[in-house]
Parts: sequence; structure tokens; C-alpha cells
Amino acid sequence: MKEKTRISESKIKKLHKKIFTWWEKNKRPLPWRETTNPYYIMISEIMLQQTQVNRSIEKYLEFIKKYPTIKELAEASVSSVLKSWSGLGYNRRALWLHEAANQIVKLKEFPKTQEELQKLKGIGPYTSRSILIFAFNYDIATVDTNIRRILIAENFAKEQTKENELFILAQKLLPKGKARDWHNALMDYGSLVLTSAKTGIKPKTVTSNNSKENRRFRGIIVKYLTRISKAKKEQMVKDCNIPMKKIDDILVGLIADGLVAKTKKYYKLPD
Ligand code: ADE
Repeated sequence: MKEKTRISESKIKKLHKKIFTWWEKNKRPLPWRETTNPYYIMISEIMLQQTQVNRSIEKYLEFIKKYPTIKELAEASVSSVLKSWSGLGYNRRALWLHEAANQIVKLKEFPKTQEELQKLKGIGPYTSRSILIFAFNYDIATVDTNIRRILIAENFAKEQTKENELFILAQKLLPKGKARDWHNALMDYGSLVLTSAKTGIKPKTVTSNNSKENRRFRGIIVKYLTRISKAKKEQMVKDCNIPMKKIDDILVGLIADGLVAKTKKYYKLPD
């Protein structure tokens, strides 16, 4: 049965008041909140998808210092971007970000619609919405794991509510003209007040141990190759402590994703 989707205006107003009142006194001073430059917002959003806020702060500041403009990022070598990304994990995202920068410099201006943003490498529905919200304050809503937890804890949704319904719901709760502040407030409230530990609400996607392990090995190899310029397979198995039965699959995956290049018997980062 379809869930009832009408929500009373007074319930919505109460939520706005509660969240904004708390936020006025408790907002986190985060560096990507001091800018509306869509390029910086894009970097921060991609980092924040995979890395905790506290750890992202330093990496974000380093990254924008090294590549202050989108043109400078586009012109940088893949290996230098991978080096700057080191420690953040999910190295493919660094490659995608670099490719997206190259796509954007070919355009007249930074894309300003969800449709155009999603043509960029590595930019899906979540990131495109976040960019439009935080850079341009557009009246649209997004739902990350923190916001989903608030919707459930505040009885607007259930744990089993589907993602598209969560988006529709979030759109109904959006205070018009305040998308940027609202999402910052929700993200703070979800991370600091309605935590997973406090509410008992678990994130929706769980990654299998096997893919976690593979991702760890991929990260170790990329990091290793940022330090030594090239290595043979046997050498990597030994130095990186990767099981021999896994190394081939891991290298094939890294090469397919463009993160590693092979010349003769040597593996290295792409130029
Ligand atoms: N997670 C994703 N985007 C964020 C933001 N702008 N602030 C805090 N946490 C976030």
C-alpha cells in the first residue's frame, strides 16, 4: 500500500523551528561553508561522500591550495592528483574529479542544472543536488545518510521507505529560499544530535567484507605506487602484503579503472 504523503504544515513548521533554533547555536564552522564557488563545493562533496568531516577538512584545504582553480586541476597530471588524494581512499573518485574538471573547462561556465551536472564523470544524483544546493542555494532537496536518519527519527519516514520516496518527502520539508542553510543544519543535527548510536537507525547500504578488503588492497597499491615510481607484481605482493591469489584480480581492476598503467612487467601510476 502506498504511504500517505500529506504532511501537515504545522508539523513542517515545527521541524524547521526545532532544527534552525538548535543550529543557530551549534553550527560547525566548516571551510567549504565559507564559499559558494561550485568548483570548491564539488571537491568537498566528493571528499565527504567517503571520508569523515574531520578528516576531510585538512585534505580539502590542501587540495584547493594545490589546485585553486578548475583549470589548474584539469591541467594537473593524473599521478599528482592521485598523490593529493592519498589518504582519502576511493582513488577512482580522484580520477573522475580530474576528468570532470577537464569536461567543465571545455564548457562556457560551470553547469547549473542537475541534468548537465550528471553528464560529468562521477557526478550522480546526490552530488549534483548537493552542488546546486550548496553553491547556488537552489530550492531542491537531497537525502544523505544523516538526513535519512532524521526523517525516520522524526517520524516522517520508516526504515524501509524507498529512496525515491525519501527524496519526495525531503522536497516537501524544504524551507523555500533556504536550501543551503537547511541542508547544513540537517547534516549537523544528524551528525551531532540524532546519531546512529542514539537512534539505533543503521545506514542503508552495507558493504561486504570482501569488497572492503579489495578496496583496502587497491588503496595500498595506489599509495605504494605514489611512493616508488614502478614495481613488478611480485614486488608488490611482498611489499604491500597482498595475497598472491588476489593480486591479479586487483591489478586488472585498477588498470580497467585507469588508476594503474602497465608497461612490460612493470606497474605504475598513469602519467
Ligand atoms: N556531508 C556531505 N556534505 C556535507 C556538508 N556540506 N557538510 C557536512 N557534511 C556533509
